[in-house]
Amino acid sequence: MNCKIALISGDGIGPEIVREAKKVLDAAAKKYGHTITYTDVLMGGASIDVHGIPLTDSAISDCQAADAVLMGSIGGNTSTSPWYQLPADRRPEAGLLKLRKSLRLFANLRPASLYQELKAACPLRNEIIGDGFDLMIMRELTGGLYFGERKTVEENGILKAYDTLTYDENEIRRIAKKGFEIAQKRRKKVTSVDKANVSDSSRLWRKVVEEVAKDYPDVLLEHMLVDNCAMQLVKDPGQFDVILTENMFGDILSDEASMITGSIGMLPSASLNDTKFGLYEPSGGSAPDIAGQNIANPIATILSAAMMLRFSFDLDQEADAVEQAVQKVLTEGYRTGDIMSEGCTKVSTSEMGDLIAERI
Ligand code: IPM
Ligand code: MG
Repeated sequence: MNCKIALISGDGIGPEIVREAKKVLDAAAKKYGHTITYTDVLMGGASIDVHGIPLTDSAISDCQAADAVLMGSIGGNTSTSPWYQLPADRRPEAGLLKLRKSLRLFANLRPASLYQELKAACPLRNEIIGDGFDLMIMRELTGGLYFGERKTVEENGILKAYDTLTYDENEIRRIAKKGFEIAQKRRKKVTSVDKANVSDSSRLWRKVVEEVAKDYPDVLLEHMLVDNCAMQLVKDPGQFDVILTENMFGDILSDEASMITGSIGMLPSASLNDTKFGLYEPSGGSAPDIAGQNIANPIATILSAAMMLRFSFDLDQEADAVEQAVQKVLTEGYRTGDIMSEGCTKVSTSEMGDLIAERI
């Protein structure tokens, strides 16, 4: 198979972790007889430095011309980087939001499961961890507060800021359908997370999700308020299969879910539209404080590449090989600093990439 991948290395640790994911993809391509062609695409601060804006139209076309996009991370230190002196719509994050919208990537899948080997890095007590957990956050990605109208005005000498949270029923229906479809292939349970005791958008969310659920009688649906969900994630994460939620709630809950896996450096993600096309990126950020030191954990990016093989290219065997290689390296006791524990061998970003690539 010939796979065309757009590569967005981005900022901070982005170039280091993408380099390792590419190494692993190339090893899988070599072993299974595929060709991969990469096109480098600038986004975020890297694009601001060259073009003055975080995402150019030609960068969007380059992504559209590929079969899938593999991304590292974008953004810098919000209090010290000159990128954050720019107006909000020209900062690094604006590029990512524009790309998600332009490519209609409405479904963001963020799986969080606990490797037995990483139990020591999990901040939860053993009796809470139990047999571990394996959940999938399905986050709506192109609506809600992220894309609603916003402005800051001065009224009678007082500054006032507005952000709008809107969802129409179609936006809710399409992500709900994806959520139920994914649940059918897993443990057949959807927890729809909202704030229906307060907001209208959540009440509509709940109503539409209930309608969609009727088409999936084999899947159990439960509703949970977002504040309770935040609590349940650290009280009994094993209760969850698919968590279906709107954009901002999903952003927050997925960081929480990543932490209980041991490190945000372990959590991959896939952002999908109605086609096979997808954008794959680690859930974590650009970690500017450790950038360029070859110490970041590349596993989330490598696992995102595995998701790409599975969802965009239907290469299940290859995706399994990558995931098993990660598992093997962890079982053999290799750890980057963020997941290091006693008795293990500490390795750098590039060593971790080499070890995984060698085990494909
Ligand atoms: C994420 C990130 C982004 C988001 C930022 C960088 C805009 O936190 O992918 O979770 O909020 O969606
Ligand atoms: Mg986030």
